[in-house]
Amino acid sequence: MKLFVDTGDIEEVRKAAEWGVLDGVTTNPTLIAKSGAGFRETVLKICDLVPGGAISAEVVATSYDEMLREAMEIHSGHDQIVVKVPLIRDGVRLVKTLSDKGIRTNVTLVFSVTQAMLAAKAGATYISNFVGRVDDLSGEGMAAVAETVEMVERYGYDSEVLVASVRHPMHVVESLRAGAHVATMPFKVMDSLFNHPLTDSGLQRFLDDWNAAGLEIFEKSRV
Ligand code: E4P
Repeated sequence: MKLFVDTGDIEEVRKAAEWGVLDGVTTNPTLIAKSGAGFRETVLKICDLVPGGAISAEVVATSYDEMLREAMEIHSGHDQIVVKVPLIRDGVRLVKTLSDKGIRTNVTLVFSVTQAMLAAKAGATYISNFVGRVDDLSGEGMAAVAETVEMVERYGYDSEVLVASVRHPMHVVESLRAGAHVATMPFKVMDSLFNHPLTDSGLQRFLDDWNAAGLEIFEKSRV
């Protein structure tokens, strides 16, 4: 499963990229607004920090013509940029236009398998299925993810199912169980994936035993 970090914070992208397991970055208008810097500047810096990664940047217009203008501007910024488009009628129409031109898209604000089907039929590269926002309303966000993975596989659509609105590590576990292609998550969730108390205690024990024995990796040359 590909791992994307969901942020507009350059330092978070830098740290996540250093781990060597980052496949891309998703942003949205809220995250870019929080970054405190300009849209283009932020997205281009992210592209530089994640060479070869898929970097999603979102349109903010809601009519087809305006979204198309924004999409072409966003796409022209860097070949790593994936144009993020909301799942509205004009948005699906735009995704079809962009996919016919070979431009990669990420369809966002998808909550149901029927919405996901529309995105897949239009040729979306990624279908962003939001889970946390559904859980917040006492729903089962992961249910639509599982249905969407099955739909994409059964009908042979090229789209990748991207689990978005991830709030905690269990959402990542459930994404793996559902066979999702990608999960995007806040930096703090990605950071927490490293943690296990047995790793900490196990490492401490290895180091204590090693030091007690006075061993060294780089032994002084024997004469
Ligand atoms: C996905 O691309 C979105 O940017 C993001 O996952 C939304 O998450 P939220 O529901 O925590 O805002």
